Amino acid sequence: MKEKVESICNEIKEKISNISNIQDLNNIKTQYMGKKGIITELQNGIKDASDKKEYGMNVNTIRTCFNDNYENKLKELNEKELNKKLESEKVDISLPATKINTGAPNILESLIEEVEELFMSMGYDVVDGPEIEEDKFNFEMLNIPKGHPARDAQDTFYIEDESILLRSQTSPVQARTMLKGNGNTPIRMICPGKTYRRDDDDATHSHQFMQIEGLLVDKNISLSDLKGTFDTIAKKLFGENCETRFRPSYYQFTEPSVETDISCFNCHGKGCNICKNTGWITVSGAGMVHPNVLRNCGYDPEVWSGFAFGFGAERLAMLKYGINDIRTFYQTDIRELKNFDRKETK
Ligand code: DAH
Repeated sequence: MKEKVESICNEIKEKISNISNIQDLNNIKTQYMGKKGIITELQNGIKDASDKKEYGMNVNTIRTCFNDNYENKLKELNEKELNKKLESEKVDISLPATKINTGAPNILESLIEEVEELFMSMGYDVVDGPEIEEDKFNFEMLNIPKGHPARDAQDTFYIEDESILLRSQTSPVQARTMLKGNGNTPIRMICPGKTYRRDDDDATHSHQFMQIEGLLVDKNISLSDLKGTFDTIAKKLFGENCETRFRPSYYQFTEPSVETDISCFNCHGKGCNICKNTGWITVSGAGMVHPNVLRNCGYDPEVWSGFAFGFGAERLAMLKYGINDIRTFYQTDIRELKNFDRKETK
């Protein structure tokens, strides 16, 4: 009997040791331990055994032998499987990484956001207006009637019979905002937006560019309010040492009209090529809102007064970041744009 047990055990050992996959291991389990398996049958034979105790012990030895070999093999096969998987998923961390090009905030947008935040901190609203505009708002309500020579200065893209156009300035938003104010509401607004003129593109001209319009209407507003506001903004944008000055100018919708200058941040008045040796840089047109414009838009000029201004956004950004070609903003050349990544130029 003892030999029989030994030979069954040896057979089990040998069979299991030759197995190389889980499927075969499962099969052999059924073969020995299944319902009609060899060990199960031996177990069932106990009822006919003469020495049940010894018989039982022998069957147990065989079962233990099977279980031990089975468990060891299972462990071995699982480990093999895992190693295979790890091998196939191995990452070579010494390989050079692929360079990912990241974007940077558009410098013009960043500048506009900065200006918006400054004006918002002074109680201004940021408003919007249509780029496809009516002649009425772009010119007529702003005191520029049909046939007026001031129209020639703005080579306009007309869309339909001279009544619909691509706005040549953001000033029409002044008229639109005043009309909404019903002649009885104070106004503080800025409007950054795209404008269009039939210019040939070169380093300083673009057929599409951006302006930042501003309008304040209230009671007892004077030119000194405009000066104070402009001075505050200029110092915030260009540094506390920035000085400002007004020069007389002419715009049809403001009276008096001025050009606003800042002291040259590059040479501080000594003269350089940024300020064309004058020590000053012009950054916007501005003035007191013309009584005709107030009246056209429903505000009584005897009661209300206001100031308006218009910055060229690209010009501000070019000055602030030392860019000398306006086309830079509109070309999507990542190598070029990288040079003006805000982080690097600040
Ligand atoms: N709209 C003018 C232009 O495009 C700029 C401007 C000048 C706007 C004076 C104003 C202003 O609001 O008061 O040339």
